[in-house]
Amino acid sequence: MIPESFIQELLNRVDVVDIIDKRVQLKKAGANFIACCPFHQEKTPSFTVSPSKQFYHCFGCGEHGSAISFLIEYEGLSFVEAVTELANTIGLQVPNEEFSEKININENSKLEEALKIANNFYQGQLRKSPEAIAYLKSRGLSGEIAKRFSIGYAPEGWQNLEAAFKNYKDETLIKAGLIQKNEQGRYYDRFRNRIIFPIHNAKGIVIGFGGRVINPEETPKYYNSPETPLFQKSYELYGLLAARKEIRDNRYALVVEGYMDVVALAQHGIGNAVATLGTATTLFHIKKLTRYTDEIVFCFDGDNAGRTAAWRAMNNSLSALTDNVQLKFLFLPNQHDPDSFVRENSSDAFRALAKEAIPLTEYIIKYLTQDNDLVSQESKVKFLNELEPIMKQFTAKKLLLLFKKRIAQLVDLDIQEIDQIFKIKFKNEVIKNSASRNNRIPMSAIRRYCLFVILEPDIATLVDQEMFLTEKIDDQLARAIIEISVAEEKKNTASIMHLLSSRFDQEIISELQTQLASLDQTMDINKEADALRLSIRKKLSSASKKTVLDQIKQKSLQSLTEEEKNFLRNMGKG
Ligand code: UTP
Ligand code: MN
Repeated sequence: MIPESFIQELLNRVDVVDIIDKRVQLKKAGANFIACCPFHQEKTPSFTVSPSKQFYHCFGCGEHGSAISFLIEYEGLSFVEAVTELANTIGLQVPNEEFSEKININENSKLEEALKIANNFYQGQLRKSPEAIAYLKSRGLSGEIAKRFSIGYAPEGWQNLEAAFKNYKDETLIKAGLIQKNEQGRYYDRFRNRIIFPIHNAKGIVIGFGGRVINPEETPKYYNSPETPLFQKSYELYGLLAARKEIRDNRYALVVEGYMDVVALAQHGIGNAVATLGTATTLFHIKKLTRYTDEIVFCFDGDNAGRTAAWRAMNNSLSALTDNVQLKFLFLPNQHDPDSFVRENSSDAFRALAKEAIPLTEYIIKYLTQDNDLVSQESKVKFLNELEPIMKQFTAKKLLLLFKKRIAQLVDLDIQEIDQIFKIKFKNEVIKNSASRNNRIPMSAIRRYCLFVILEPDIATLVDQEMFLTEKIDDQLARAIIEISVAEEKKNTASIMHLLSSRFDQEIISELQTQLASLDQTMDINKEADALRLSIRKKLSSASKKTVLDQIKQKSLQSLTEEEKNFLRNMGKG
C-alpha cells in the first residue's frame, strides 16, 4: 500500500490544471478552465477544471475527480501507476512502503503474463482440435473470425495447463482464475473441454476468459473467470477492443447478451457489438461506451427473460443518461438471439431492426402501457405511480421536459400538473438556487455546511466534530466529512474527496461533486459557514428539546420524574 499520507501530500502539491492541460487543451473561463469533455462526445464544452478545488467535473457526463483519477480514466493507468506518474512530475519519490505496492504492480503484471500464456496455449490447442474447429464451424464461424477474437480451446483433461507453465502450482495461476484447488489439495484446470473466449481490456491485455461447453450435456453452459484484480465483470464489456473502431464508424454501439452474439454478428459484418458478461448492464458499461459514441442500442431476446433484462437495463442506465446520449432498445422476434437471427436472416435484416430500435422514453411508456389502457382515472394513476420513481432519476434535462409533455398528453393533464404531482426538481437546479444569496436553504444546512468544509477544510473545528457526532445527526456522509477534515493535518479539497471516495459509494460522491462544482465561487465562505454553524446548533438544541417533550407526552402525569417536571416548567418560561 502507498501510505495515505503520501497521497494527501501529492494531491496538495500537484496542480490538476497542469496535469489535464498537458492532455486536453483547456481554456480559461472565469475562475475555472473548460474544454470539450474527453470522456464523452460533445460539441460544446461542459468539462470544467477548478484550480481552487483541484478537481475536474463534467456537467455533461458526470465524470469527475482528482488529478489521480484523471490519469486513471484518461490514460488507463492503475491507481499505483497514476500515483507514480504524478509523483514523477513534481520530482517526488513514492515512499518506501511503496515496495509492497511494487510487488502489487508485479503481481498484476504476473497475472497478465499468466493469462497471456494461457491464451496462447488455448489458441494453439484450437488449431490441434478437429472437434473444436468443427464445433465453431457448426456455429457458422470462420477461422478468420476465430483469429480476430483470439478464440481458443481448453482440451479435455484435468491438468493441461501443466504443459504451458513451468510451475503449475504457482499461486499466481490460482489468483488468475486459471487453476483451482480442491479440498484434497489437488490442483486442476478451471476450463476443460470448452471453447475459450478471451476478454480484453481497453489496452488490449487479456484480463479473463469465458468458456463454453462443447458437449451440450455438460453444465454450466458458460463458465467465466472469477473476479480478479484485473477483471471486474460489472466494468468490462466483451468485444470492446475489437469493436471500438466500428462503433465510432457506425456512430452507435450494440450491446448484446452473449459472447456468441458478438462473434456471430462480426462474422456477418456487424462489428460494432459488445456483450455484458452475464451481468445486467451497469452505469460503467454505458460510461465506457459513451467515450466512443453517443448512441447505444441494447439488444434483447424476444422472450420473457429478454423483456425482464431490458427493464433492468433501463433502470440501471437512468443515472448515466444525459441529453448527449441516446439509449435505444431493440427486441428480436420470438425465440431469437442476435446470433440465431443474423444467421437465419441476414445482416441487412438485423441492421434494419437496429435502425428501428425504440428510444428509451418510448420504451418506458410502451412497457408500462402494455397491460394498461389508460382509460379510467384509476389506470392513469397507476401509470403515474409506476412512472414516478423513473422520472425522479432522470438526469437529462431536455429529455425530461419532452418526456413530461408526452406523459401529460397520455393522461390528459398539463405539464404544470405533472410537475405538481411528481415534484420533480433538477438536482442541479436545487443546488444552483441554494447558492444564490436570496434563495437559500433547500439543501439541508448540514450538507451545505459540509460543502464549505470540503472547500475550506480549515474551518472545521473540534467543536464541530462534537456537534456532528451526536446521534442526532445521522447523516453519515456529513459526519465523515467533518471527521476527516478535523483529523487530517495537510488537506485540501481534492485530498478530502479522495478520502471520502474510499468510504462511500460512487453515486454519493458523484452527487457531492456536482454540488461542489455548482457552488457560487464568489461568496465569503467563512461568513456563510459561521452563519450555518449557528443555525445547525440552534436546530440541534430545539430538536433535543422536542425529543424530550415527545417522550414526556407518552407518559402519564403521575409517572413523570422530577427532572421531566422541571423540563416542562422551564419550557413554559422559555
Ligand atoms: P445465453 O444462455 O443466452 O447463451 O447466455 P447464448 O449467448 O445464446 O450462448 P449460445 O448461443 O448457446 O452459445 C448469454 C450470456 O450469459 C452468460 C454468458 O456471458 C453468455 O454469453 N452465461 C450464460 C453464463 O455466464 N453462464 C451460463 O451458464 C449461461
Ligand atoms: Mn445463442
